[in-house]
Amino acid sequence: MSSLFNQYRVEELLLATGTLQKRLWQEAGELRDAVFGKEVFIRGVIEVSNFCRQNCDYCGMRRDNQKLDRYRMNSDEIFDHLQSILPASVRDINFQTGEDVVAVRETILPLVRRIKKESRLGISLCLGTLESKDYDQLREAGGEYYIIKIESGNEAHFKAIHAPGTLAKRIEAIHYLATTGWQVSSGFIAGLPDQTKEHFLETLNLLHRLPLRGTSVSPFIPGENTPYEGAGVMSGVEALNSVAILRLQNPDRIIPAVSAFNIVHEEGYRLALEAGANLGTINLTPERQREDYQLYTKHRVIMNQERVLKAIEKAGLTPSEKSMIRFLKKI
Ligand code: 5AD
Repeated sequence: MSSLFNQYRVEELLLATGTLQKRLWQEAGELRDAVFGKEVFIRGVIEVSNFCRQNCDYCGMRRDNQKLDRYRMNSDEIFDHLQSILPASVRDINFQTGEDVVAVRETILPLVRRIKKESRLGISLCLGTLESKDYDQLREAGGEYYIIKIESGNEAHFKAIHAPGTLAKRIEAIHYLATTGWQVSSGFIAGLPDQTKEHFLETLNLLHRLPLRGTSVSPFIPGENTPYEGAGVMSGVEALNSVAILRLQNPDRIIPAVSAFNIVHEEGYRLALEAGANLGTINLTPERQREDYQLYTKHRVIMNQERVLKAIEKAGLTPSEKSMIRFLKKI
């Protein structure tokens, strides 16, 4: 583990500025380079449905948000759309939904089967907490990578923000997925209301101990039409330092640069790559649905291929020719 952890407490690294911050990001970037090369994986994401049975206080798709128009796409519609617009750089595809079991059974399952059969794309899913038999069916259909966030690693805080179900159940799901052939990714939101430094450290420790191939941090953005609408935000600096800390703690995991970094810092996306991230996401949701997939705000920054490639280049990195999922199978 990095010598930075012997010299500084994690809380200090989190708040690092100036030369310490430079050193933190540099070490993290070098670790990424040593494990993955100076390369960034590129995935596409389609937000398939915004129906959600959960009611998370931080998320605009919560079931109590009646201001949101709900949509659910069907599998043919998505397949045709992908065929016509898939950018050349994309090697993996992620399908994301609110927690919507109808979408899982009616859209995602047939879609995954078809993509598996007709393309070489790696298939990643982010669909919430489901029943074991749903995970099994999705795996059998061709799903390979499952993203299931813990959001906060402190049980009481998890409950206070009304994150899905219980933390224990989420952890159980992560273990189940990891032991049934999935590559699993999890992550947290940095700067949530009532998140203390202790919660933060507890979250990092928990993520480190879990059987994960990927880990993400997203800066908290107060969501429109959520109970946290007027809440304060943490500085972009802390969220970016979190990326570097995650990398130093978990050298061989996939760590995404998420578009929310661009909301908290002008050049946030590129800086996340400089701080050790190694995955970029191109948003491929059709425009008509995009506005209603409201995690936090209508004004989120949409990352298209041009913006993602530019950020990668500016960070001194190159887009990977490989699927992250296939790469992970070999390490
Ligand atoms: N701020 C930042 N990230 C959020 N997410 C949901 N709401 C917010 C928010 N207000 C993230 C969560 C979720 C992912 C899809 O988006 O991490 O798992």
